[in-house]
Amino acid sequence: MTEIVDKSVGIGDKIVENDPRTSETSAGGSVSRKRRNDDDPEDDRAFQYKKIDGEHARVVAKHYNTLEEKGLAERNKSRIFYLRNFNNWIKSMLVNEYATKVKETLQAGAPLRVLDIGCGKGGDLLKWQKGRISHLICTDIAEVSIEQCRARYDAMLARSRKFAPEFTAEFFACDSTRDRLRERFRDASMELNIVSCQFAFHYCFESLPQAECMIRNASECLKPGGFFIGTIPDANEIMRRQKLSDSHTFGNDVYSITFQCDTENPPLFGAKYHFHLEDVVDCPEFLVYFPMLVKLARKFGLELVMRERFCDFYQRMKPRGQQLLERMQALETYPPHRNGTANSSDPHDYSHAQEYLDRERSHRRVGTMSRSEWEATSLYMVFAFRKMKKIWNKEGQPEYIQ
Ligand SMILES: C[S@@+](CC[C@H](N)C(=O)[O-])C[C@H]1O[C@@H](n2cnc3c(N)ncnc32)[C@H](O)[C@@H]1O
Repeated sequence: MTEIVDKSVGIGDKIVENDPRTSETSAGGSVSRKRRNDDDPEDDRAFQYKKIDGEHARVVAKHYNTLEEKGLAERNKSRIFYLRNFNNWIKSMLVNEYATKVKETLQAGAPLRVLDIGCGKGGDLLKWQKGRISHLICTDIAEVSIEQCRARYDAMLARSRKFAPEFTAEFFACDSTRDRLRERFRDASMELNIVSCQFAFHYCFESLPQAECMIRNASECLKPGGFFIGTIPDANEIMRRQKLSDSHTFGNDVYSITFQCDTENPPLFGAKYHFHLEDVVDCPEFLVYFPMLVKLARKFGLELVMRERFCDFYQRMKPRGQQLLERMQALETYPPHRNGTANSSDPHDYSHAQEYLDRERSHRRVGTMSRSEWEATSLYMVFAFRKMKKIWNKEGQPEYIQ
């Protein structure tokens, strides 16, 4: 598999050397002269929230603010109907896996608190309800999305009051790559059990300060043993396809990627490409070089515990998620039932399913996904980090331990 060439900034100590916080004349920010513990990333004074020019943030916020919320009928007709359901299934399984792990360590009656960064219009609210959490903090850069998320929560609450235990929630619009989230919480000292960032984390890899700000936001309120979970495009897979296509643009009829940076030596931050996904995404994104994410996360006390491509996560979760897979209509039945039509009109989109049926003669139908949708969803991966415990060593410096 092609790896991204690691050239512009060295991994490791150089992060600190090149860290704009240590420079006297860093762009857009003045140097703090207060005494501080530079070795402690959680020391408030050691971290500066920079006002960096927000060209991409504005573009991204505008895109999501103007994205029309489609009704059920429209969604049913969508070319990416199964892809969306499948992605939702992946998120459900991820939430379930880590909410369960957290609950195993909680004392009876202890609250389970969650922060959803880049929550969008609230597509995951039901997942949190099913996870039986007690409090949810929702934040997104797009104000319109946050208002829709709040309205969805209100409607859900009104519906569920009689049937299911409800959770409290708070909402605010904010750029998680530039602003400190905890200052916007109703209770700034609130401790969280899970931080979730679904299909949104990669926007922070525009620059090192933005990535650090996002990771700090994800880490600083987590209790030791709590989890930071998410879904992001897999940079290795994107680069592999780019090399195969031998072009700056590649994709199919549901997604396309157009590189806007040097593809021979993509930078560690700001490796920009334009991503288009039928009906839902049309904006600039950034490659997340995973070893760098792991390195930065560790600096903020987060230890990698799981990283899997969607296809591998699906295989692992299939046995326990089979019923949900069916209920969520995450796979398409091939060939369609009588009077039904295939989601794609191109027979080539189902040749893999036809070959399977030709081989497995005992099956008349199979649950599958059109090739184009699968090519889009298999670009992604899931991850989970665990918050480590902070101790102070003999030199009076903070250290994270497992
Ligand atoms: C593809 S959507 C995913 C929404 C939701 N998490 C989901 O899984 O359905 C990406 C979301 O990230 C949000 N986003 C992008 N950049 C952000 C930033 N800098 N701070 C906070 N949210 C951001 C967008 O507004 C959008 O709602």
